[in-house]
Amino acid sequence: MRLRSFAAVVFFPLLLLAATLVAICSGADRLAPDLPLLDDGASSLVSDSGRFRLGFFSPNGSVNRYVGVWYAEIPVQTVVWIANREQPVTSRFGNLSMTRNGTLVLVDGSASAVIWSTASFSPALVNPVAQLLDDGNFVVREEAEPDGFAWQSFDFLTDTFIPGMMLGQRKLRTGRIIDIKMASWASDIDPAPGRYSFGLDVQGDPQLFLWYGTRPHWRAGSWNGRWLSGVPEVKDRSDGLVDFDVEPNQVTYLPSNKSTAILRWVVHNSGHLQLVVWLETQRAWNVIWYVPKDLCDSVSSCGPNGYCRPSSSPVCACLQGFHPKNPRNWELLDGSDGCVRTTTLDCQNGTDGFWLQSGTKLPDTARATVNASLSLEQCKELCLKNCSCRAYAASNISSSGSGSGCIIWATDLTDITVYQGGLGQDLYVKLAAADLASEPSPNHSLRKYMVVMLVILPLAIIFLACVAYFIWRKKRSKFILCVHISENAEEKNLELPLFDLSTIRDATDNFSIDNKLGEGGFGPVYKGKLEDDREIAVKRLSNASTQGAAEFKNEVTLIAKLQHRNLVRLLGCCIQGGERMLIYEYMANGSLDAILFDEHQGALLDWTKRYKIILGIARGLLYLHHDSRLRIIHRDLKASNVLLDKEMNPKISDFGMARIFGGEESEANTKRVVGTYGYMAPEYVMDGIFSVKSDVYSFGVLVLEMVTGQKNRSLSHTKLQLNLLGHIWMMWKQGKCLDLVDKNVGRSFSEDEVLRCAKIGLLCVQESPIDRPTISSVLTMLGSMEDDISLIPEPKQPGFFSSADSYGNSAMRDPHSLATERESFTELEGR
Ligand SMILES: *[C@@H]1O[C@H](CO)[C@@H](O)[C@H](O)[C@H]1NC(C)=O
Ligand SMILES: *[C@@H]1O[C@H](CO)[C@@H](O)[C@H](O)[C@H]1NC(C)=O
Ligand SMILES: *[C@@H]1O[C@H](CO)[C@@H](O)[C@H](O)[C@H]1NC(C)=O
Ligand SMILES: *[C@@H]1O[C@H](CO)[C@@H](O)[C@H](O)[C@H]1NC(C)=O
Ligand SMILES: *[C@@H]1O[C@H](CO)[C@@H](O)[C@H](O)[C@H]1NC(C)=O
Ligand SMILES: *[C@@H]1O[C@H](CO)[C@@H](O)[C@H](O)[C@H]1NC(C)=O
Ligand SMILES: *[C@@H]1O[C@H](CO)[C@@H](O)[C@H](O)[C@H]1NC(C)=O
Ligand SMILES: *[C@@H]1O[C@H](CO)[C@@H](O)[C@H](O)[C@H]1NC(C)=O
Repeated sequence: MRLRSFAAVVFFPLLLLAATLVAICSGADRLAPDLPLLDDGASSLVSDSGRFRLGFFSPNGSVNRYVGVWYAEIPVQTVVWIANREQPVTSRFGNLSMTRNGTLVLVDGSASAVIWSTASFSPALVNPVAQLLDDGNFVVREEAEPDGFAWQSFDFLTDTFIPGMMLGQRKLRTGRIIDIKMASWASDIDPAPGRYSFGLDVQGDPQLFLWYGTRPHWRAGSWNGRWLSGVPEVKDRSDGLVDFDVEPNQVTYLPSNKSTAILRWVVHNSGHLQLVVWLETQRAWNVIWYVPKDLCDSVSSCGPNGYCRPSSSPVCACLQGFHPKNPRNWELLDGSDGCVRTTTLDCQNGTDGFWLQSGTKLPDTARATVNASLSLEQCKELCLKNCSCRAYAASNISSSGSGSGCIIWATDLTDITVYQGGLGQDLYVKLAAADLASEPSPNHSLRKYMVVMLVILPLAIIFLACVAYFIWRKKRSKFILCVHISENAEEKNLELPLFDLSTIRDATDNFSIDNKLGEGGFGPVYKGKLEDDREIAVKRLSNASTQGAAEFKNEVTLIAKLQHRNLVRLLGCCIQGGERMLIYEYMANGSLDAILFDEHQGALLDWTKRYKIILGIARGLLYLHHDSRLRIIHRDLKASNVLLDKEMNPKISDFGMARIFGGEESEANTKRVVGTYGYMAPEYVMDGIFSVKSDVYSFGVLVLEMVTGQKNRSLSHTKLQLNLLGHIWMMWKQGKCLDLVDKNVGRSFSEDEVLRCAKIGLLCVQESPIDRPTISSVLTMLGSMEDDISLIPEPKQPGFFSSADSYGNSAMRDPHSLATERESFTELEGR
């Protein structure tokens, strides 16, 4: 900035001359009076060092013309700002010019109509110039005043937030205070303001909000000096990636010194706030973080005085000293009524105390009072003395982790989330002495007990009946998910299309053998074509299931809700005449294993495709583990369960048959090990313990298979009795990993990516589940722009190092499940 100003002052006449001579079409960075920018297909402004370009564009799929700013160096046109987002130019005669007094005017030349203009300045500018700066800001200023902007595009955000931009309140030159917010596009092709917006609410302790219309959709919360209350994970990830400057009424996104990564925050018209990074290697944008991603992200899902736990089921719980206001709804997983105090406070007598709830996203601070100059101890005293105080917390966390400053709530505590893994902040809740003891009162616990009995007992009976039936019927009957119907309380509106049996018969040519795609664990799969030419895959379930039609539908509805780009999409089902069928989208390229392990077909997957597939599988898995409404462990992730569409995009299949995780558990134990040999984690095979980390193990195996083109089981190094994992591990230690790359990949691959994948793969297959990364850190590692692979931790020896010992152990456990590699089961299992 300073340098630029110096240059501008000293070489001012020169620059003016240059700007005039070079004119607009060859990429000057400024617009002067009488030098308009026309929509002639060639004219645009380019910022000083060539980072941003301003010109006319059409969104993909639209013919309307807009004036916008986009990244000049990124091949996928990515617009960060739009002047006339509400009023497109409908002809090709757009003309952006600046008047002599500094007003920018966009005219539709074909109709001579003014489409858009900036407000006029008073006093008017004398020698105005409009310039596109290197941070993407388009400014109007006095020629001789490089730093005083009369107008800037950064005051009028569209859906994108990039370094240098600011959210919150800003005082304009005129003295008017404006509220700077981002707003999503109306649709993918229409940049007009959509329903979702993101900005700063300055009431109480100022907080960032994602709004749907005027209603809060997700609360990012306030800044505590180190992180946004609702985004504790970004503190850890920041490390130079994301840097904010927070002042009372504004949040500025600082350019990062450490990282050259190109990042932007976007409010997408789907209602998500995304942090997106440009991956030069992929030549694509990659979403590395987004919200809302779980139930806890919707504001007030657990009502007043309740809190939300993202990875538990049920997600809602009452704060210590509180109990559900409406126990019936509460047990039906509707927490919106929240919780009420068990024992009233006894403020006058001074016997009240505080309960520390750690790891929280602090309650909504819109009506809280903040005093940054108090210590935490003073805050406590203040809260004790003031009878309307309900809770307090520190307003400022220093880098050492200690808190200072004071937030006091005198209202109900709403929208609290309790995080796991040491994230989040301490909240001190004022309670009567009786409630401070950790035992809940007997009355309350009895009532709770009774409700639990009333709700759980019938379910348990149904469940046991199902179990008994299935055991009796056939050991290998596959249909699952008898219970967990209770999840659906509010889901009734999501109706799954029911297909007619005759439609399916027509589509599959009456289940002709020619249309048979294969035989899955649950029955044959047919290819079909609907009347509207949509291709489908029909899974005809073997007649094993005795489930009622309603239950079947219920379940399928549950599965249908899992929608993600990298999961095979369930289109509907068909229940008729004793038939039960699931209708999926058709995947033109079949399963990954058929291509990957085929000597000839393997060459279809060059390294770029493989990397893309790995990323896709990781994203799908992330969705199952963390982002869907239900936490789902796949348990049988393997190459044959990854299907490829026309464009070789991977989609995980058979996830609906996986176990849906319930209760408090983050891992569970099963008596019957199911899965596929070679992909199963050691603790799962040996002890039957499975968790998200056993899926990570399978993912690791899959990644290593992608790199080497070898099946984990098929390669045995006879002398050493090593399996593929062991072999890769040895080669890794000797620094010879690149020798293992699949011949089918050829010579053109990024060594860094291959090594990165091998390293991540090895991290995922480590012996101890604790050592293995979560799938979200896998994604971060895969997508991180720090090119230095040494930042990824060194893997330890993989589980199942030697094929001999693994075979021995697992065979002892459940020989049946290991009988054929292709075989895969999923069992009947409730919670
Ligand atoms: C526009 O769409 C085409 C085809 O769908 C795609 O190839 C292209 O990358 C898209 N361009 C942008 C800017 O998104
Ligand atoms: C563009 O607009 C300016 C100012 O409104 C006008 O002077 C100029 O003639 C226009 N140019 C064209 C090609 O329409
Ligand atoms: C600036 O110029 C525009 C167009 O020429 C005019 O409408 C506006 O009134 C002027 N503003 C001032 C303050 O002179
Ligand atoms: C980045 O650099 C600027 C100036 O060079 C400095 O003021 C700022 O503190 C630096 N920020 C970080 C996070 O290092
Ligand atoms: C204060 O304590 C006394 C004795 O414990 C009790 O009788 C009285 O009700 C309390 N006062 C209030 C306002 O709760
Ligand atoms: C914050 O607390 C200090 C010390 O008690 C007091 O002097 C100051 O007025 C308070 N500030 C506000 C804004 O209440
Ligand atoms: C108690 O705290 C609330 C909220 O901070 C404040 O509005 C109220 O004035 C305080 N009351 C007293 C007596 O200090
Ligand atoms: C937060 O605490 C740190 C360390 O105690 C201090 O340097 C900083 O000024 C505080 N920030 C605010 C906004 O009070």
